[in-house]
Amino acid sequence: MYLGLDLGTSALKGLLIDAAGQPVGSSIAPLQVQRPRDGWAEQDPASWISAAEVVVQELLQNFPAPMRALHGIGLSGQMHGATLLDKSAKIIRPCILWNDTRAHVEAAELDAMAPFRALTGTMVFAGFTAPKLLWVQRHEPVAFDCVHTVLLPKDYLRHWLTGEFISDMSDASGTGWLDVGARDWSDELLAATNMRRDQMPALVEGNAPAGVLRDTLARRWGLPLGITVAGGAGDNAAAAVGLGTIGAGQAFVSLGTSGVLFAARDTFAPNPASAVHTFCHALPDTWHQMGVILAAADALEWYANLVGRSARDLTGELGRTLRAPGSALFLPYLGGERTPHNDSHARGAFLGLSHSDDRPALTRAVLEGVAFALRDNLAALRATGTEISRLLAVGGGARSAYWLQVIATTLDLSIDVPKAGELGAALGAARLGLMAATGADPASVCTPPIIAESVDPDTTLTAAFSDAYARWRTAYPALKGARLD
Ligand code: XUL
Repeated sequence: MYLGLDLGTSALKGLLIDAAGQPVGSSIAPLQVQRPRDGWAEQDPASWISAAEVVVQELLQNFPAPMRALHGIGLSGQMHGATLLDKSAKIIRPCILWNDTRAHVEAAELDAMAPFRALTGTMVFAGFTAPKLLWVQRHEPVAFDCVHTVLLPKDYLRHWLTGEFISDMSDASGTGWLDVGARDWSDELLAATNMRRDQMPALVEGNAPAGVLRDTLARRWGLPLGITVAGGAGDNAAAAVGLGTIGAGQAFVSLGTSGVLFAARDTFAPNPASAVHTFCHALPDTWHQMGVILAAADALEWYANLVGRSARDLTGELGRTLRAPGSALFLPYLGGERTPHNDSHARGAFLGLSHSDDRPALTRAVLEGVAFALRDNLAALRATGTEISRLLAVGGGARSAYWLQVIATTLDLSIDVPKAGELGAALGAARLGLMAATGADPASVCTPPIIAESVDPDTTLTAAFSDAYARWRTAYPALKGARLD
């Protein structure tokens, strides 16, 4: 048996698979995000440990025999978070998350230094780890002086599980300190933020062993001693491993808190000017490219809270019959945007509202606004030479049949929805755990999922969606003058 633990932003998920890779059971525990100021997003790393305890306890209770047969653990997690530890490995301050844009000034400074784009292959975004450390240095110098080790969120979980300070190539790619072509920390990039290699975790490939479950935890949970913990992956690369998206030409869209258009590549082919992310994949000698929008399901959640309904009720009341976009438009830039704008000051907007626009009309505008942002991402990816002819869909948002039709029609691509798609990253993590523990060949483990449903573009509406997208595109530049920067 193998366990994948996926430390998301809104929840920590655990998924057990057997030696054939079949899901056996799962558990989930919610997580909260603190937003002490506009543009800030933090989490207490202690809440990750509590959530992991809850998930493991629930799995032990519901699946005692499979848990006793546990042989490997894989980790996946929200990327980019700056988890700062002192020399006793104590947390110095709350983790500054991937969608926190406070370090936008520092990001722009680093991005202007030639070695960053040249070595990382990606623009330095405000959410990346390196600019956050520069921000801490400037605004919280006492905290900065205590920084002994910087870990990414899932690697903090690993430290608790194993006592090791280790990260994997895919997650490390999102720090801004990795030479992504060479798959190694760059001393030059670290030095540009007054950091050193000895403050970084050791690096392994995602499917390599990276620690053993501590005996104290194994005994407390009644698990065998010596369970291997894999390098694991950033959540997007992990989702790709779970979906079998490991070879060139394979791609998926993830509708989690963030929205991601992900394509696997077998070469390092960066194009930093396009605001596309070019990162190491979780398997040796492979890379991937992503367009990232900061609010996908998060935008729908925001709207759901505003109108006092659940996201599921809102999409449910739309039914399954796709309608042409109305006059209402929505920009999903609630907390700034990465691809294609790289603009931390961008903000969301509803436009073109009429008296006749009711709650469902605005729900549709939100779903369409996210789909239009994904179309911008598709254009950015295609501009780098990435070919996408079909997509898999994962993430909570993929449970909405209506939303998938909106996206398929907007992107003019068919979308395959896997069974149990919401467990994508946890499944990838479990697969990495299996590969690390057994040495199994990635191609035999990373098989594509069983498809529950395929959603094709509605060709009777593609022109209407294209027209609405063209109107929508004019809104972002037009609104620049109307905002508080
Ligand atoms: C990727 C990114 C997000 C987070 C979400 O660059 O920032 O997808 O990983 O968890």
